[in-house]
Amino acid sequence: MAEENEEGVEPWPENDEKFYKDAKDYWTGIEPTVDGMLGGFEKISPTDINGSKAFLRPFLKVGKGKTKNHRALDCGAGIGRITKRLLLPMFDKVDMVELNQKFLDAAPTFIGQDANRVERFICSGLQDFTPEPGRYDVIWCQWVLGHLTEPHLVDFFKRCQKGLAEDGVLVVKENVNSSTETDFDDVDSSFTRCKEDYVSAMKKSGLTILKDEKQKGFPKGLYTVFMFALK
Ligand SMILES: C[S@@+](CC[C@H](N)C(=O)[O-])C[C@H]1O[C@@H](n2cnc3c(N)ncnc32)[C@H](O)[C@@H]1O
Repeated sequence: MAEENEEGVEPWPENDEKFYKDAKDYWTGIEPTVDGMLGGFEKISPTDINGSKAFLRPFLKVGKGKTKNHRALDCGAGIGRITKRLLLPMFDKVDMVELNQKFLDAAPTFIGQDANRVERFICSGLQDFTPEPGRYDVIWCQWVLGHLTEPHLVDFFKRCQKGLAEDGVLVVKENVNSSTETDFDDVDSSFTRCKEDYVSAMKKSGLTILKDEKQKGFPKGLYTVFMFALK
């Protein structure tokens, strides 16, 4: 969870290879804990999860929506914070896709007994990953899409759309820049896009925005966080 950078735009990455390698190196050095996943902001996790539950529920059959609760995919899952606290309580099965094998190795212990309902632990960058077509009722992407270049983001969105089951929903929950610019953070090698840039990538990929909402209740000084539901 990066804090908003008051110093302005950081140097832009030289090339895709360096951009992805720097991110991989950064995450290799991070502890497999909730605090590690949230950059020292473990305390915001309950507010985050409650906001996500309230956002997602109206789409699901239990919330009088159409989306089934058979299987969800957690993208950039880390140790499974979202899998454990949001997705496993709402879905029969969950798959996790994550760049760093160390985080996936820590996931079963972190998740506990319900880890037996995690069907696939997939170690991959999202830029190289294709969800199995039609497999997921919900695909959840949170605090990871800044690690993709814009062309890879658009292509990944297209592949996610194909990965959705009938009445499935793709959820994107990301930091957004309050100005109309994109920041680059050269510590973890990620972009913080403005909302318009996410909307533009979603439109380019052919997705339809069903709902968007700002996460409430986060401490001042953090980036604004937006949730988008897409199909
Ligand atoms: C800020 S953490 C968020 C983890 C989790 N989504 C959560 O909210 O608890 C970012 C995660 O994305 C992973 N990651 C970074 N770049 C990635 C990429 N290109 N593809 C997939 N995962 C990536 C990191 O290893 C890390 O686990």
